[in-house]
Amino acid sequence: MTARFAGKVALVTGGGSNIGRQTALTFARGGATVAVVGPSQGELDETVKLIEAEGGHGSAVVADVTRSEDVARMVATTVERHGGLHIAFNNAGIGGKPGPSSELDEAVWAAVFAVNTTGVWLSMKYEIEHMRRHGGGVIVNSASNIGFHGRRPGMGAYAASKGAVSILTRTAAREYIAEGVRINAVSPGGTNTPMSYRPGESTEDRDARVRSVVPIGRVGETQEIANAVAWLASDDSSFVVGHDMVVDGGATA
Ligand SMILES: NC(=O)c1ccc[n+]([C@@H]2O[C@H](COP(=O)([O-])OP(=O)(O)OC[C@H]3O[C@@H](n4cnc5c(N)ncnc54)[C@H](OP(=O)(O)O)[C@@H]3O)[C@@H](O)[C@H]2O)c1
Repeated sequence: MTARFAGKVALVTGGGSNIGRQTALTFARGGATVAVVGPSQGELDETVKLIEAEGGHGSAVVADVTRSEDVARMVATTVERHGGLHIAFNNAGIGGKPGPSSELDEAVWAAVFAVNTTGVWLSMKYEIEHMRRHGGGVIVNSASNIGFHGRRPGMGAYAASKGAVSILTRTAAREYIAEGVRINAVSPGGTNTPMSYRPGESTEDRDARVRSVVPIGRVGETQEIANAVAWLASDDSSFVVGHDMVVDGGATA
């Protein structure tokens, strides 16, 4: 049986930690060569080490997704080193300092949109440019279930930045599917990473909060998000275009 990503080159932004790292490992286990992208060389090298320890292949690209020149270089370096770009998971994101809408600091708003929304747009811009000229490809963007509702007071900037990713995904999906670039998004719910905690919250308190609001009664694991991304990135989802897949234990059901 052929591995589902055999011969493919994948790129994962925010690949130095948590959901991004687990997805990079999942792509590599499927046979892809994976470029992991982010601001911290040490974290990226650690992901590459984990991939290589399992017999896979990958490399680190230090880049800030808010900077156009970095994003152009991220795509060019991936193609130069690995011979192409077939799959991209635009996962880099930040939570930002929470606060009610009227009290939000302008700098916090700008920083959250710069990484979560502009970062995804810039990444897609250069990825699509390459893919449409080289036989197509698959893109999965990281949105969030918080982008679907207003039930998280204090998280307006983050929610709006992720809601924007969701609609940008659907727009771009329609624009490029005829050229062989298939674009979808994943919207995780609370997943077992530092981002799932509210300020000052213990694991016990987080888990109790989650049990009271999430039908499945627990946070997700990074592998559960990676599994959904891998499906969206694989040929198993070949007829899925412009979908934002909620993976949240029923929280938005
Ligand atoms: N965990 C959850 O509950 C949850 C729920 C819904 C959606 N999400 C989304 O899932 C994605 C991954 O989250 P996570 O929980 O795995 O958190 P995480 O470990 O903090 O992942 C975010 C990654 O993005 C990288 N990053 C931040 N700013 C960047 C920039 N300017 N350029 C390039 N990379 C940058 C970070 O690198 P450094 O660490 O080196 O700064 C980090 O590796 C995020 O987009 C998040 O919004 C998470």
